[in-house]
Amino acid sequence: MKELLGLLAVWSIVLSGLALVTGVVLIKKGNRVAHHRAMLAATSLAFLFLVFYLAKWALHGTTAYGGPEAWRGAYYVLLITHTLLAAVNGPLALYVIWRAFRGEFVLHKRWAKVLVPIWLYVAASGWVIYLVLKRYGVETGTIAF
Ligand code: HEM
Repeated sequence: MKELLGLLAVWSIVLSGLALVTGVVLIKKGNRVAHHRAMLAATSLAFLFLVFYLAKWALHGTTAYGGPEAWRGAYYVLLITHTLLAAVNGPLALYVIWRAFRGEFVLHKRWAKVLVPIWLYVAASGWVIYLVLKRYGVETGTIAF
């Protein structure tokens, strides 16, 4: 169950990143309807990631880093930036979508340009963290870092 939840979480965040890139390409080509759909798909996948991640956390606790000491600092920088930016990503995505639905496209575009790199960083770093913990993870059995 734990493995499955981890796999579902990491794939949903990666697919969310891919849907995001697709949505950006579509709007650059002027396809507003497909852009709208791709971005709502990206948002739904990011929401699914949160559900799987929280389920794994609640059921199985966290996994601590047990790899080489030389890499511990870099791992924590990655983990902390990933977590903080993931927390910013959610509300900012809702704000950007809300502006689009209100037809306020100047504000939509302005904040979307901040949001997209954050989202891509969260998706890519999530994948790296998953791979690091797959190799060097140590079960804590508790809900702590
Ligand atoms: C989190 C979701 C979304 C993100 C990250 C996002 C991202 C973007 C970005 C980066 C641009 C600017 C592209 C450029 O010119 O460089 C843009 C434009 C646009 N987006 Fe979104 N978008 C999202 C959701 C939506 C939704 C739900 C709609 C429709 C209701 C929408 C409609 C539009 C339209 C119409 C434009 C073109 C605005 C113009 O050129 O005046 N977007 N979006």
